[in-house]
Amino acid sequence: MPNPKSYSKTQIVLHWLIVLAVLFQFFVHDAIAELWEARMEGEIANAPSPDIHAAMGIVIFALMAWRVWLRFSQGAPALPAGDPALARILSQSVQGLLYLSVIAMPLSGAVGWFFGVGGAIEAHGIIKNLILLLVALHIAGALAQHFVFKSNVLMRMLGRA
Ligand code: HEM
Repeated sequence: MPNPKSYSKTQIVLHWLIVLAVLFQFFVHDAIAELWEARMEGEIANAPSPDIHAAMGIVIFALMAWRVWLRFSQGAPALPAGDPALARILSQSVQGLLYLSVIAMPLSGAVGWFFGVGGAIEAHGIIKNLILLLVALHIAGALAQHFVFKSNVLMRMLGRA
């Protein structure tokens, strides 16, 4: 895999676009939740209908697919050489799990919504909590890199390194 000195512009833009889109999903889900409940209680037909949360989820899935492809084709800059081994393992595991869960989130939502699978929507709720935990660790790691280890890891994802 390539070993670049910095992220490409596209990688940086995709990172922050996905952050905004995921944030959007955390705030805009009341309408789809109500529709889902009505479907499950038999008040309306158990069939999908157009919805902004579902649409944005599909956009996130496409952006993630693009991001993963760029990660393999362009690589990503290495962590600073002096980082403790434990910090390195932790940061790579959190990042890997974050990729997986942000891909699993739209997949579980879509399987539940389009095929009426209750278990998939339950998984959607569980993955939500996993994402919250991973994002908290990811932000803590980025802040630790910046303020404790004084590396350029945060700045390079802001396009300033
Ligand atoms: C990365 C993409 C996505 C994120 C971050 C996301 C996030 C969320 C969040 C935070 C909730 C509230 C869950 C709760 O309060 O327990 C939710 C609910 C829901 N989402 Fe998503 N979602 C995504 C993609 C999708 C997609 C693609 C679909 C359908 C095509 C979908 C369908 C639903 C449904 C039906 C609910 C209501 C679940 C319920 O009421 O139990 N989501 N989503």
